[in-house]
Amino acid sequence: MPTGHERAVVPLQMEGTRIMKALYPGSFDPIHLGHIDVIEQASRLFGHVVVAVLHNPEKQGGLFGIDQRIHLINGALGDGPCAGKYSVGAFSGLAVDAAKATGVDFIVKGLRNAGDFEMEQQMAHTNFAIAGIRTIYLPCSPERSWVSSRFVREIARYGGDPSSMVPANVTAALKEMFS
Ligand code: PNS
Repeated sequence: MPTGHERAVVPLQMEGTRIMKALYPGSFDPIHLGHIDVIEQASRLFGHVVVAVLHNPEKQGGLFGIDQRIHLINGALGDGPCAGKYSVGAFSGLAVDAAKATGVDFIVKGLRNAGDFEMEQQMAHTNFAIAGIRTIYLPCSPERSWVSSRFVREIARYGGDPSSMVPANVTAALKEMFS
């Protein structure tokens, strides 16, 4: 939802003639409304956001396969407010390696609460120490700050209704999976 403050952030989108890019890494199993809020904020700040589905090929598990997570992310973002300003890809290994491979300027992370901050701050310092890549935190909208993929999975698995937490295409995919 426009806040009227969008103009103030426009200069971050360019460095000289170059578009600034950010990497938004996560498991996205599945994408939820809190993620979408962060992607929309990041796409207003940066010229391009790479939504990176990070996975460990040696570890099986997760609810949705990687291809389906990507499909759901694309379906959820569709031609919404970040259309043309994002891409989605799968990466294994370190977030900083995905950042280098995609040539981004920053990593972005959403913060829901103090618990997130504790963990993200440690990761941000580590990622800067090992690769010189800075992390920018974006505050999740208060009305989305309680949403988590883990609870989405749990609610769907036990027959609850996750539709207040996820976009419609994810609700449909969960329904199909657990019906
Ligand atoms: O959606 P999630 O599960 O909270 O995302 C966590 C994720 C994937 C962003 C984080 O675990 C991560 O960056 N993993 C990649 C491995 C890595 O870079 N480890 C070093 C962290 S300092």
